[in-house]
Amino acid sequence: MDYQKILENIAIETESLQEKGKVANYIPELSKINPNHFGISLRFLNGELFQVGDSNVKFSIQSIAKVFSLSMAIGLFGESIFQRVGVEPSGTAFNSLLQLDYEEGIPRNPFINAGALVIVDILLSELRHPKQELLEYIRKLTGNKYINFNDTVAVSEKSEGYHNAAMANLLKSHGNLHNDVEEVLDSYFHLCSIEMSCNELSKAFLVYANHGRLPKTNEQILTKSQAKRLNALMQTCGFYDESGEFSFTVGLPGKSGVGGGIVAVHPEKFSISVWSPALNKKGNSLRGMKALELFTTKSDLSVF
Ligand code: DON
Repeated sequence: MDYQKILENIAIETESLQEKGKVANYIPELSKINPNHFGISLRFLNGELFQVGDSNVKFSIQSIAKVFSLSMAIGLFGESIFQRVGVEPSGTAFNSLLQLDYEEGIPRNPFINAGALVIVDILLSELRHPKQELLEYIRKLTGNKYINFNDTVAVSEKSEGYHNAAMANLLKSHGNLHNDVEEVLDSYFHLCSIEMSCNELSKAFLVYANHGRLPKTNEQILTKSQAKRLNALMQTCGFYDESGEFSFTVGLPGKSGVGGGIVAVHPEKFSISVWSPALNKKGNSLRGMKALELFTTKSDLSVF
């Protein structure tokens, strides 16, 4: 199969779509991003790499980073974390407050903002230098020590972060945040501000296509069972109230972010990442979703 040609055709076929979406503007710093960026990185477990467009340009990975924090928490504390956060799709927007209140402060899953705040809280309680250790974890997965937070983006999100602050306070009032609200929010905004390129993301996610084992060193980062759980959560909850749609059209476990990135994996085969900053109404990359749909259709490589 000529994967390079497939990616090049996808880039051409989806080009007009970026005009239909909107760059996230509720984080002031993200509203400045040029919506015309586009990149794809496809990396197989056998080491083959195919890429088009801006695949080496770093961007704000936002909620994609929730996969790394969850991965770290599952690896460190195992199943016990699911006493404080559920494993069901929410069917609501990523930042919904309503469900959280009537479900008494137990977020539906670790990928909606409320769930990610609880995971950050768990890491804060147990790690001595949580922000630094998170960065080191991602650097290890990527094999690249130049993965960093973007402080300007973190500060920018905080400056308008009233909704997430309300959510953190609601969690606290229900007894499901153990640390100081400001500290949790600061770590959460930094987590979301991490910058990576499509090529770095496809590299970091290869471990989830490899049953939790780092392809390069063979180190087991997650047990087979933990990697299964992580992929299952990406499949059912990775795109919030569009998780069904992503499963239906693309058919891979994956995760999106409001920076316009999407990463997906095919266990035992490959990881693929795409970046196009203009989003649809559910906060997922509009062109990115279509590009991945075309990829699994043309290559016949979905998990279903
Ligand atoms: O908390 C927020 O709203 C952002 N930092 C992350 C949201 C996000 O990426 C949703 N994904 N599509």
